Amino acid sequence: MTQRPIDSNTIRIFDTTLRDGEQSPGASMNTTEKLEVANLLAELGVDIIEAGFPISSDGDFEAVKTIAEKIEGPTICGLARALPADIDRCWEAIQANPKPRIHTFIATSQIHLEKKLRKSPEEVARYAEEAVKRAREYCDDVEFSTEDAARTDRDYICEVIERAIAAGATTINIPDTVGYSNPWEFGSLIEHVFDKVSNVHQAVISVHCHNDMGLAVANSLAAIRAGARQVECTINGIGERAGNASLEEIVMNLATRSEFFGFRTGIRTEKIYRASRLVSNLTGIVVQPNKAIVGANAFAHEAGIHQDGVIKEKSTYEIMTPESVGWRGTSMVMGKHSGRHAFTDRVKELGFDLSPQQIEAAFADFKDLADRKKDVFDEDLEAICLRAQELEEIPDVEVYKLENLETIATLKGMPKATITLTKGGEILEGSAEGDGPVDAACKAIKQITGTASRLEDYRIAAITGGTDAQGNITLTVAEDDFRAVGRASGPDIIVASARAYIQALNSLESKKKVAVRTDKAESLLGKQP
Ligand code: KIV
Ligand code: ZN
Repeated sequence: MTQRPIDSNTIRIFDTTLRDGEQSPGASMNTTEKLEVANLLAELGVDIIEAGFPISSDGDFEAVKTIAEKIEGPTICGLARALPADIDRCWEAIQANPKPRIHTFIATSQIHLEKKLRKSPEEVARYAEEAVKRAREYCDDVEFSTEDAARTDRDYICEVIERAIAAGATTINIPDTVGYSNPWEFGSLIEHVFDKVSNVHQAVISVHCHNDMGLAVANSLAAIRAGARQVECTINGIGERAGNASLEEIVMNLATRSEFFGFRTGIRTEKIYRASRLVSNLTGIVVQPNKAIVGANAFAHEAGIHQDGVIKEKSTYEIMTPESVGWRGTSMVMGKHSGRHAFTDRVKELGFDLSPQQIEAAFADFKDLADRKKDVFDEDLEAICLRAQELEEIPDVEVYKLENLETIATLKGMPKATITLTKGGEILEGSAEGDGPVDAACKAIKQITGTASRLEDYRIAAITGGTDAQGNITLTVAEDDFRAVGRASGPDIIVASARAYIQALNSLESKKKVAVRTDKAESLLGKQP
């Protein structure tokens, strides 16, 4: 194997949880939630946060802009196709940050050129050059990606990369967009780029691997061995289809086997578990119990021989300590006799920074839960804190509030729900039948509110084990071009579902109102270019 010139022994961690991760089915987050994730990513020590794809929607633009304005430390990056309008919009969103990056991309594989772009190889290479040049007019830090690189002709990819670097790209990203490659082939592709691209040392080589065949992390590590110095990844490996390479797995491979890889990252590994929990809570995407590093079983020893070994000497079966990734397992922390002081301390230890009003609301919620549920776990407290944080985001419309809910679940006949809502001072009541009590409750709310929206996605996950566990509901409603997410948790999944649905409908109304206001302003001021 050819010896690669290694300019540094640090690997840059490029986190795309808020862009590619958010492309996971049903994973959409609102601006406040994205900002919370971005804050934690900055604390975690990632080098670059890809905050979103600004031209894709007004919501994405707003989120990227807010993150660029509020987060300092990591580079803040926005995605743009190799088109002038995308690049301009991206710059508009990120320019407020002291370290902005424009990430522009175009597909280079034969199949994408022929079937998707319907452009010749020369046309695509010119799009790449033009896009990079335009981005460089705004910003010194420009990343260019050759989408579907793993299925691209090797001579052609080298030509496009060389031209993109000559046009000013400072990072070249080589994605395995469809998770097609394997470590031997992908490593050799990176070597080939180092061998054939004459100006390759003027840019950082990056990789971005998808997990369609379960090889995203292995392919990323092979690329690092072949000379890549930036890896793109997401918390919990979430992302399009089977997801992206998981940040925690790449980082812990490099940390645990540092004598083998010889590289370091700037990640504060003890914050990994907290980041995993936050992303899982906000997206509603559950982490599988046997997931490496952050799964519930990642540090559990079941077999007697293993337990015996661990009691005698932990390193017999533990290659890294749970503490090194901030893993705390599921522990019973409090009960109904716990006081406000202990509660506030524990909330802080869990990484939440709540305002006095939020603490007030969270403590009342905790007392209520402790009355109904014998054991209160850290995971329950996380759900309570997230609920309290959401309370301050009351949308700017006259909101519906859930006052009462009664349901009948029966083996004979249809389940039925009767709901009372208030809007302003008005009391609104309705009942409906459904396939199950959740369906009946949602139908009753739909009938009362008269919403024209449709329920696009509904997910439920148990926060801890046991029949008294809280359920975490995440759902999405959509109407025309508007989409809103509702999230709620609690020991009664029918009540939590109703709350999540109402929250989503309130948020949808608020989005529609903002859009009307913007249209009015534009008709007065003239549409912005
Ligand atoms: O998978 C991919 O190719 C991407 C690019 C936009 C980098 O997400
Ligand atoms: Zn991707």
